[in-house]
Amino acid sequence: MHAAAGNKTFVAQSLLHVTEQVSAPSSTVSDAISYGSGAAGAEEIERRRSLLSGRLREATANLQAEPSHSDAHYVSRFSGVGIFQSALSAIFADLPDLQGYGDKNPIWVTTVIEEIAHKVKAFFERVHEDRTGKKQPLWAALVSELVRIGQADDRAPYPKGAPQVQALPDNAVVAPLADWGGDNDAAKKIATIVRRQKPDIAVHLGDIYYGGTKLECEIFLSMWPLREDVSDPKSQILRRGSFALNGNHEMYSGGEYYFNTVLPAFGQPQPFFCLENQYWRILGLDTAYAGGRLKPQSDQDPIAGQWNWLLERLRSSKKANILLTHHQPVSAHHQEWMDSTRLRNDATDLLNQEGIGQDAIFGWFFGHEHRCALYKDTALPYNARLIGNGCIPHEVQHEKTCDPGCTEVDFFNKKETTPGSNVAVSSFAKLTISGTELLIEYVDETYATWGAEVWDATKGRLGGKKFTEYDGRQQ
Ligand SMILES: [Fe+2]
Repeated sequence: MHAAAGNKTFVAQSLLHVTEQVSAPSSTVSDAISYGSGAAGAEEIERRRSLLSGRLREATANLQAEPSHSDAHYVSRFSGVGIFQSALSAIFADLPDLQGYGDKNPIWVTTVIEEIAHKVKAFFERVHEDRTGKKQPLWAALVSELVRIGQADDRAPYPKGAPQVQALPDNAVVAPLADWGGDNDAAKKIATIVRRQKPDIAVHLGDIYYGGTKLECEIFLSMWPLREDVSDPKSQILRRGSFALNGNHEMYSGGEYYFNTVLPAFGQPQPFFCLENQYWRILGLDTAYAGGRLKPQSDQDPIAGQWNWLLERLRSSKKANILLTHHQPVSAHHQEWMDSTRLRNDATDLLNQEGIGQDAIFGWFFGHEHRCALYKDTALPYNARLIGNGCIPHEVQHEKTCDPGCTEVDFFNKKETTPGSNVAVSSFAKLTISGTELLIEYVDETYATWGAEVWDATKGRLGGKKFTEYDGRQQ
């Protein structure tokens, strides 16, 4: 991730400029397309230019219409904009001339934006030399990167089959972390803290920013999953100890690198899994392949296999079931609440299936929305926990209550990295299973714990010990 790619105004201006340049044939555009794609021949290059031009125009319109998600670092939820952000981030990380535009000191972005009307054109017209010695204007380097990344016309094929149920130790530490797949400082701090907890199981709930591209997935794999030697990023991956769920950003590249690079690296055959012991069952599910849904639209729907497997698991025996997904089934905020309608309805359908029952879901951890909230347990048929504040800089949460008509919340995580900094913390959930008890601690990037609660498999989801906010106890 790079500050340049997370400033919405800068992304918008960059997108407008590149779109304008690509809108008509020119020798510089053709050269950039040929350099990025390896394509030769005027006809093929023109076909690619026309295709890219249409996609950039669509991305421009989407960006302009996109509502705010309260992120201090802009992360688009439109695939074309996400891919453009991936290209911007790659260029700023790669071009030697741009290394002065430091990610850690993003003042230059503000400077460019303040004088954007005069300077953005000059900024993007400046010729840069890349690591291979190729010289071209910055906008053309972006065009090369965009065609190098490509944009999927279709989704990657869904893996066949269903996973074996894996044994979960009776005493185990499980660490779900969500929306963590950026390579920024917060992500690195969270990764370090997770490793220090020495969890038996770590699960990424999805989102490898911005577009789930080859480069972004490779960077993700350099930081994750858990390895035999936590201090050596090249040591053997802990098989059976790490899982990666699918996120909407992975699907912006059609899921190609999530399914064909990330899952094999994790030794994970499917994008869903089940871990269970005598009392607890943890079900990691893919909600991203079908755009925030669990229930198939037909028998031919690729996610039908996961749905049928899920029904089978829930009917097999009664346990305290905990779902892990990328998308949220509920929200305290109007836009996200609307966005979660289909998944919420799918959950209702799931609980209404024969042999399942209204008490089948004990708890549900999810991300996608870059905030942290503990929803009101008595208002829902499951204990819902939003942990989407995994690494993306977002506004400090000041909400006192939910938006009208949305899901009621008992606790919002309003913590800042340091008091008065106005920088919201990133965090993850540490689940410590001890027989029938499950201790949930919300641990943040400052090594402090926001608070904790205890669920008890024998007391039902409204039993156990209610959440208690701590005063910053160190891990
Ligand atoms: Fe997401």
